[in-house]
Parts: sequence; structure tokens; C-alpha cells
Amino acid sequence: MILEPNMLIDEMSVLRILDQTLLPNEEVFIDLKTTEEIWEAIRKLRVRGAPAIGIAAGFGAYLAAKNIEADDFDTFHRLWKEKLDYLATSRPTAVNLFYALERMEKCALDNKDKTIPEIKALLKTESENIRLEDIEQNKKISQFGLSLIKDGDTVLTHCNAGPIATSHYGTALGPILLAKELGMDIKVYADETRPLLQGARLTAFELHRAGVDVTLICDNMASIVMKQGKVQACFVGCDRVAMNGDAANKIGTSGVAILAKHYGIPFYVLGPTTTIDRNAKTGNDIKIELRDPEEIKTMWYEKPMAPMGVKTYNPAFDVTDNELITAIVTEKGVVYPPYVENLKKLFE
Ligand code: MRU
Repeated sequence: MILEPNMLIDEMSVLRILDQTLLPNEEVFIDLKTTEEIWEAIRKLRVRGAPAIGIAAGFGAYLAAKNIEADDFDTFHRLWKEKLDYLATSRPTAVNLFYALERMEKCALDNKDKTIPEIKALLKTESENIRLEDIEQNKKISQFGLSLIKDGDTVLTHCNAGPIATSHYGTALGPILLAKELGMDIKVYADETRPLLQGARLTAFELHRAGVDVTLICDNMASIVMKQGKVQACFVGCDRVAMNGDAANKIGTSGVAILAKHYGIPFYVLGPTTTIDRNAKTGNDIKIELRDPEEIKTMWYEKPMAPMGVKTYNPAFDVTDNELITAIVTEKGVVYPPYVENLKKLFE
């Protein structure tokens, strides 16, 4: 069973999300009413995963617009822009956040001659369209991804790129859930994904609930299962893909790709074209989020697991070099190298 969409906006103008920080122990939906609450939910990873962040930001932009009282467009835009800029500071790496905010702003600017209530109505539709388009993209990515593996294969994945990280099906987990629906036997190794354990808490939760044969491993166990011949493909999501194919995803992903190359295992990055940043020429143009040291030292533990005052470095993402990536799977098809040429074609 695939989880229901993890967010909705009702007539009371509330963004309702499944609080992912509480999984797998509690399934709690929370209502977000203000821009500040949505900002906090994104920053704290209550809603996370690049497409889901974009969808939440789109709804956040609509909610912010809805609450603005202005008679003329310029006043409306000035007040609203402050809220958009604020939402843009919630997390830096997933480009879907910026894609959604820019798309919402463009919708308003393209309709500046309309009345403010009309613009607000258009923004509501636009935010919903971002979510609906993501569902369709997920479905296509799942089909293209499934064409790359065969019945009986085992896939290794890192972090969580499943239904709760998107609108509905997921990207890296989409083909696996589709395979399950079709009665195929695809097994999964899920890296636990230090330090925030998205693999253990979310991927293992989603796949186990869907009845997929999933085995949880610590991040440092990926090489042994690869060496033992237990993995036929790696499927990972992405937060921002540069135009040369360099792909930012959860910290540790590039290590998996290096191991996969060593053992001759295909390494696939799956994501919608909304995750491709046309302004990023290479991975060097991707901003990497640095997070709180406590995520490494104390979070999840009963007692601190590092000496007080010890220095830490906690980048939340890394960039996998394009030469380690066998193909990038988008809703428009499977893109193989040379990426500089072939990614460009997606937008022609
Ligand atoms: O820090 P997170 O949990 O938001 O990181 C998420 C990932 O790295 C996912 O793999 C990525 O966003 C793709 S989600 C379809």
C-alpha cells in the first residue's frame, strides 16, 4: 500500500502535513497556518525531500498571499515578496524550493492586471498544480526506473526518496513500489543514512508498510553487500542536479556511488526535471546546507556520544560527480551521458 498524499490544503487554508520527525513511532498530522510555521516545518525536516519541500513552499506562498490585505498590486507584491524571500531561507540545497517560489511569483506577476482576489485564486490553483504535476512526474519516473531493473533484483538506496518525500509515489522508491503493485519481486537494502536516519526511520517504514522485502543496513555496510554480489543497482533521489549531471543528494550518496563504480554496479539518480537547476553549470554551483552539530553528537542518543566541545562538520548533502552516475531518470525519460548535451535537450 502506498501512503496517501502527505499534505493537503483545505478550505480553512491550512497546510496539513505528516510530521516526518516523529516517524516511524508516531503518525501525526500537523496543521500549519502561518509562513513562520511552514518555514519551521521545512527547516526542522517535518516536511522534507526536495519535491515535498517545493510543494510545501508553493502552498506556503499561497497562504502568505491569502493573508495579505492590499488594494493594489504593487503593495500586495511588496508585502508578499517579503514572505517569499523568508520562505526561501528555510533550506538552501533543494532547488525545488526556489522553483516553487519563483513559479508562484511569476503566476502573480503574469496576472498583475487582475484584481487581488482573482490573483489569490490563481495562486491557489498554481500551488495545487505544483503538487498535481509532481504526482504525474513520480508515476513516469517510476515506470522509467522500473525499466532499468528486472524481477528478482535487489536495489540499494540511500536516504528517503519515497512517497512522503514527494507528492505521492516517490522517485527512487517509485519503481520499487510500482514493481510491488505489478507483483514483481524487488528487494531493497536501505542505508540508515546518518545522522538524521531518513533511511531507517522513513525508507524502511514506507517499504516495510508496503510489503516490500527491505533490509536495513548501516551506511558503512554498503560495501560488503555490494562485494557479496547482493546488489544489482543503486537508486537514489536528488536535491539539485547541475547541467553537467553532477547531483547533490543526502550526505553519503557520493560514497555509495564510488563504491558502486568499484564493484561495477549501475548507479541511478532519479528525480523530476524540477530538480535540475539550469543555473548550475556544475556541482560547484550547488550550495550545501550545514546543519547543527547536535545532530551528530546528541540527537537520537540517551547520553551525548561525543566529548563536550568537540568540533564537528555536518554537511547535509554531497555532490556525486557525473562520471559516477550511470543515468539520470526523469519524467521525460532516462538520460545517459554525455550529460551536458543530453540534459540540455530535456528543456528544448
Ligand atoms: O535532508 P533531506 O531529508 O530533505 O534530504 C532528502 C534527500 O536527500 C532526498 O534523497 C532528496 O530530497 C530526494 S526526495 C525525492
